[in-house]
Amino acid sequence: MTQDDKKKAAAQAAVKYIEQGSIIGVGTGSTVVHFIDALADIRHDLAGAVSSSEDSTARLKALGIEVLDLNSVGSLDIYIDGADEITEHKHMIKGGGAALTREKIIAAVAKKFICIIDDSKQVPVLGKFPLPVEVIPMARSYVAREILKLGGDPEYRQGVVTDNGNVILDVHNLKILNPVELERQLNAIVGVVTNGLFAHRGADVVLVGTEQGVNTIE
Ligand code: A5P
Repeated sequence: MTQDDKKKAAAQAAVKYIEQGSIIGVGTGSTVVHFIDALADIRHDLAGAVSSSEDSTARLKALGIEVLDLNSVGSLDIYIDGADEITEHKHMIKGGGAALTREKIIAAVAKKFICIIDDSKQVPVLGKFPLPVEVIPMARSYVAREILKLGGDPEYRQGVVTDNGNVILDVHNLKILNPVELERQLNAIVGVVTNGLFAHRGADVVLVGTEQGVNTIE
């Protein structure tokens, strides 16, 4: 079984959490691509979706699922998305696909965050995966210097412009023992739009694709 098979199994398991007639939040990434594919069977049961990226929007529309503006949605019951790393406390690093800001906004609004991963994403401590930070372009060098003071090594993600017109710094060599505090510190740097730590708002349910099947962590 490949990692992709495990992602697919986790993604398919998320479908049963969707209630008839609901509006769902949809994340971004290769695991979410499997999730959107799995929506084909139930697309007529959905009232619509809120999407975290242009890529997911295009895929949802191709299935005939209406994509709604988050501002027009009073409340959102559920958000389904992947992660780059996740701990037993359901704290995550996200943003490998550069969609972290919209993902964090939708996660904040949703009542329930279902995280779909393969088992390679489970870690004891966050930070081996470089932490993405979305930055206003003119603040890039300043933010990089501030991140150095926090002990990280920022690297400009060349050639990437986010859906919001910003740039990404990937922060290497962090051993994130207190993700709640680091999330707060990074947000306090002027010019930072969002950082990829999802600790203040972690996942509620994690569906992990493994060799033995899908594990549910609640
Ligand atoms: C997108 O910006 C990310 O937050 C994704 O959720 C994360 O990178 C997981 O991606 P995969 O599902 O492709 O592993």
